[in-house]
Amino acid sequence: MFDLGIFGGGQLGRMLASAALPLGIRCCFWDPLGAQAPASALGPVFTDLEAFVHAAGRYTYEFENIDPALVQSAAKSSPVYPGITALEITRHRIQEKNTFESLGIPTASWKPVQTLSDLENAIAVLGLPLVLKTVTSGYDGKGQFVLRDKADLNRAWDTLGTHQPLIAERWISFRRELSLISVRDRQGNSAFYPLVENTHHQGILSFTRAPAPNLQADLQRQAQAYLNALLIHMDYVGVLTLEMFDTGEHLLANEMAPRVHNSGHWSIEGAHCSQFENHIRAVMDLPLGSTECRGTSLMVNLVGELPTLKASVLALKHAHLHLYDKQARPGRKLGHITFQSDHARDFEAEALLLKDLLPNPMAFNPGA
Ligand SMILES: Nc1ncnc2c1ncn2[C@@H]1O[C@H](COP(=O)(O)OP(=O)(O)O)[C@@H](O)[C@H]1O
Ligand SMILES: [Mg+2]
Repeated sequence: MFDLGIFGGGQLGRMLASAALPLGIRCCFWDPLGAQAPASALGPVFTDLEAFVHAAGRYTYEFENIDPALVQSAAKSSPVYPGITALEITRHRIQEKNTFESLGIPTASWKPVQTLSDLENAIAVLGLPLVLKTVTSGYDGKGQFVLRDKADLNRAWDTLGTHQPLIAERWISFRRELSLISVRDRQGNSAFYPLVENTHHQGILSFTRAPAPNLQADLQRQAQAYLNALLIHMDYVGVLTLEMFDTGEHLLANEMAPRVHNSGHWSIEGAHCSQFENHIRAVMDLPLGSTECRGTSLMVNLVGELPTLKASVLALKHAHLHLYDKQARPGRKLGHITFQSDHARDFEAEALLLKDLLPNPMAFNPGA
């Protein structure tokens, strides 16, 4: 019998299980990729759902684009955290928006879109540019289309519109993107990491600075209040992440993820207790660990292709390399590197050296 079964055997499952290992917690996984899944080095990866839902004492999931019925099948005989409600809300962009609004959390204005005339109407109400997103199954900018003028209408509709519910959102010209990672245990204790600043390239996270530069206390307080409302509303157990737009005047919620998040990978080296260990602690009924930072971190995603010169990356004093054991493919997250030190100035020169080692240096522009 395994202590924890994780739906999904990707890099998040892999990093969750490597945080669980030193705590004496053994994990197994469910993933259609079986032994090819990145998490397979840490425990068995089931492809048979029936065997998986009887293999562990409790369950969690590493991604929200999963059919809740699958998770429900584990919930019949064992506890599942963060639970089915959180999964149902966060996998569905309209339910997510309704939840934000019901709790008074500001978000970009939006309209549901089922037909081409709904889309025309959304343009009239929300204006252009406008972003059209699939209601379910989107990630890393997939399932999205940005309409910049009316001429894009048919192309947007042909790309996304045929048989799936969509949501149109007003385009936010944000100053920067921020995210906040929280954790809550079964007794209702919660803890928050500092806000971090995220830079995306082609819809995919490129790099994260932790804590966010020029972080004012009232911004942190505001973001924590939003997350706190969400944690309580969903009676949440585990790590919950909120992605936000900072417009300079407002903090607008973009989306939330019921799981450990790419913008929290820095916490492995950059916080006293990482997001992965804290998620494990919360779902396994162990006391939460400190979310306090160790100095400053810069996390850089390795997307599509790996740097050819592994030795040169390892030669960078403040760099910590994490590879996910995945086949290279355009747009795929293959690993990450975290720079960590007391001050960002200790590693800025190394980050520029890294830029030259990356196959796609355009994606990583830490000085901009
Ligand atoms: N309404 C919007 N206004 C401006 N940029 C947006 C908007 N929605 C999404 N984006 C951009 O696209 C990225 C990915 O969108 P997001 O809704 O977070 O979907 P995903 O599930 O793919 O992460 C965001 O991080 C942001 O950079
Ligand atoms: Mg996102």
